[in-house]
Amino acid sequence: MCGIIGYIGEKNAVPVIIDGLKKLEYRGYDSAGIAINIGNELKIEKKQGRIINLEKSLDNDLYANVGIGHTRWATHGEPSEINAHPHYNIDKSIAVIHNGIIENYTELKKWLEGEGIKFISETDTEVVAHLVSYYYNGDLVKAVTESLKRLRGAYALGVVAKDEPDKIVAVRKDSPLVIGLGKEENFIASDVPAILKHTKNVLYLDNDDMAILTKNEVKIFNGNGDRVERDIETIEWDMEAAEKGGYPHFTIKEINEQPEGIQKVIDRRINDDGKIVLDGINLSKDDIEKISRIYIVACGTSYHAGLVGKYVIEKFAKLPVQVEIGSEFRYKDPLIDDKTLIITVSQSGETLDTLQSLRIAKEQGARIMSIVNVVGSSIARESDDVFYTWAGPEIGVASTKAFTTQMLTFYLIALFMADKLEVIEKEKYDSIIKEIKKIPNDIQTILDNYKDIQKIADEQFNNEKIFFIGRGLDVEISYEASLKLKEISYINSQAIAAGELKHGTIALIEEGTLVVAIATQDKLYEKMLSNIKEVKARKGSILSIAKEGNNEINDISDYRLSIPNTIDILTPLLSIVPMQLFAYYVSVARGNDVDMPRNLAKSVTVE
Ligand code: AGP
Repeated sequence: MCGIIGYIGEKNAVPVIIDGLKKLEYRGYDSAGIAINIGNELKIEKKQGRIINLEKSLDNDLYANVGIGHTRWATHGEPSEINAHPHYNIDKSIAVIHNGIIENYTELKKWLEGEGIKFISETDTEVVAHLVSYYYNGDLVKAVTESLKRLRGAYALGVVAKDEPDKIVAVRKDSPLVIGLGKEENFIASDVPAILKHTKNVLYLDNDDMAILTKNEVKIFNGNGDRVERDIETIEWDMEAAEKGGYPHFTIKEINEQPEGIQKVIDRRINDDGKIVLDGINLSKDDIEKISRIYIVACGTSYHAGLVGKYVIEKFAKLPVQVEIGSEFRYKDPLIDDKTLIITVSQSGETLDTLQSLRIAKEQGARIMSIVNVVGSSIARESDDVFYTWAGPEIGVASTKAFTTQMLTFYLIALFMADKLEVIEKEKYDSIIKEIKKIPNDIQTILDNYKDIQKIADEQFNNEKIFFIGRGLDVEISYEASLKLKEISYINSQAIAAGELKHGTIALIEEGTLVVAIATQDKLYEKMLSNIKEVKARKGSILSIAKEGNNEINDISDYRLSIPNTIDILTPLLSIVPMQLFAYYVSVARGNDVDMPRNLAKSVTVE
């Protein structure tokens, strides 16, 4: 989705903004632009395509101490130079960058056109530039304040005016915006990597906050116009964590970071006695007993982690769980009251579908817990309790390390609840904890065998369609494996419960069709063998994933991959890893942009 950066200070704003935009590339974008105040004018440059196009179009001697920049991911209007941000008013004295959607822009546009204003783009954002201009009378803060009264929708805005080179005005409503605090310089950004090179001290704006940035000061006003202070937070990770560190892509770097990420969660959440530490989250036996219903709400990969979450909470804690897609949940009038526990799951913590569901549930009295990776994100801030996944920055659009840490977090929540409710025997609990502690090593074993997977990918990358089948927990991993492959390889892929294949989808199996069979569940292993045979009988090809030692599957597989032995319920933490590697190597073999696949965005802040 769109990215925002703004700079005011002693340095030349141009390289700071361009560099910041490059750090935001991972969010996904189709055009980029910059507006800087060069004294007698706002210099506005925009280009379709990569940031490098924009960079090349700028004069080498361009200099300014204040400016804003934007990467756009098209929502209203096609990707084009004209539709790229910043947008500006008629005489180019006011420029605006915007993330989100102005819902009432048609109505505002009509009214502004009635006032004689000619629009040049198809975007919703352009109305903001004209609206601010309409109210502008030498005071940018006042003009933005007046404009906000008329805007509906979600927005993070950065606004500059030619005649006020000493300030940037920034606003946040339902779209993330962070303020970076430096020495004689301040920043705005849609997310931290854009400014991390310059400062680790940030503050997150609350909904409806307006920030006025000058070189030496940041003043914040809440939605009522009262001056407020927001806590300054220090970012714990550094730029290295957000760079490729010798890997060709972020995606493969992040796949390889999983043993470390899982280890971090284990170290922070399981104490020496094997007890689970919730880190300030108050979840007493009474609290858990009070829960009548649990909804897990999430999108995409996080939703798949939720499917595993349901399985383990029901198995360990014996509580009923429903898993819901964020974009559906909020519109289906779910049954919610103060006995409902909502667990939202989100890597970015900004996914609007999930966030809006959270808000609706909160309004209706539910307790909100969240599993989130990005510290200080909207979902984290609006939840009653947050389980951070501590996976570090995930830059590749395809979520990998966030997924495994989300799943692990669910295991720990489920075991914690089961322990509190006394519905799990101590021996069983201890043996699961013991097995969990082996997971980082087991993942490393899979990663070390990457060449086997790369070889299969190099032979199979030209497929037009690939199916994934599994039973039990392997179905959930099939969904995620299929999504991963689709996202970065663009191969048409479908995941289906293996037993369901014969009820229709088997019609699509022809000679050579690749079917990935995930068969890690001991009690369902033989059933899987039968389903694989059904595929073989139609001359399909099989890539199977099974626990090491389970070798009957070899004879009916064209390719075979192994995961280290663990108890059935923990296999998702392992079986997804070869699937991530497979998707990655197929994508590389097809020459795709692995980290920034077409049409996708890292953080989906529109509905
Ligand atoms: C994952 O590979 C996808 N890019 C996507 O499905 C993602 O998981 C989804 O948009 C939800 O994002 P979130 O976890 O940041 O909420």
